[in-house]
Amino acid sequence: MAKKRLVSGMRTTGSLHLGHLEGTLKNWVSLQDTYDCFFFAAVWHAFTDRIKIDDLPTIIRNIIVDWLSVGIDPEKSVIFRQSSMHEHAELSTILSNCTPLGWLERCPTFKDAVRDDDARSGVSLGKLMYPVLMTADVAVYNAEVVPVGKDQLPHLELSREIIRRFNGSYGDILKEPEALLSQVPLLLGIDKRKMSKSYNNGIDLRETPEGLKAKVQQMITDPQRVRRNDPGDPEVCTVYAYHKIYTPDRLEEIAQGCRTASLGCRDCKLILFERLNTMLEPIRARRAEIETRKGYVEEVLDSGEKRAHAAAAEVLQQVRQVMGFLL
Ligand code: TRP
Ligand code: SF4
Repeated sequence: MAKKRLVSGMRTTGSLHLGHLEGTLKNWVSLQDTYDCFFFAAVWHAFTDRIKIDDLPTIIRNIIVDWLSVGIDPEKSVIFRQSSMHEHAELSTILSNCTPLGWLERCPTFKDAVRDDDARSGVSLGKLMYPVLMTADVAVYNAEVVPVGKDQLPHLELSREIIRRFNGSYGDILKEPEALLSQVPLLLGIDKRKMSKSYNNGIDLRETPEGLKAKVQQMITDPQRVRRNDPGDPEVCTVYAYHKIYTPDRLEEIAQGCRTASLGCRDCKLILFERLNTMLEPIRARRAEIETRKGYVEEVLDSGEKRAHAAAAEVLQQVRQVMGFLL
């Protein structure tokens, strides 16, 4: 039986952190055998936030290298850049005409952007169009499945409505994709806030052992545990939240040690550091290996983009046909 087509993207806003790894990448890696996967760097979508153009080539390259080093496999999956695919832009233009303005204005991320706007930067049309472009991103490949985090569900629901509306006008041309909600633990930043670029509280995939150790040492613990002999409450501690994911086999022992003060925060953090470092070690090794292969990343993207163009051409041909562009 043919595998279902799966499409997903990741914005190129900066370096990847553990939140990306746990929330998205591990899921992508495991989906590769079950689905016909298309994974792309959402470069245009990154522009809805302020980004430094000077950094962009490095950001894009590093993201692709990181994908490869965690196990996204170009033999199995199509890997490409949104910015190389004019087809996304074409379909986005077409779909913008069957998307009521009100749908976009009611989108939660757009409403947040308008509310948070400091009136100096202004909210761009690109921000409003975000869900339309996202719809084009998946519809242009006839995606049947789109893995997304919870935060992206409203976008995907909007995509389905836009596609339904297009099909309502022009016939059953585009596929309505299903959301594949990943059941992932929420990883907090080292300061216990949401892990985010703008808070600079993430643990990078590219962290050196020394850098990683420093980050783990900075993690916020139970604030009530001032002295070494004070008992702690693991449930309010960021370190423990990480242990839940990375040290499931010693969880009871750690919680017990924390509550009875037999385990100090220093040692508790060392255990976590070791776990994280052990996880990152093979990723670092693969990254180093990839970096020795000259031209490899370019090759991966070239071949991915060729395959993506071929898949997109089929859908766009039908779209152009039903819309009367062809003579
Ligand atoms: N909006 C997604 C995010 O912020 C990125 C993205 C862009 C995407 N286009 C997509 C995800 C299409 C899935 C499908 O994470
Ligand atoms: Fe957190 Fe561990 Fe310290 Fe308890 S012992 S407060 S779980 S770091």
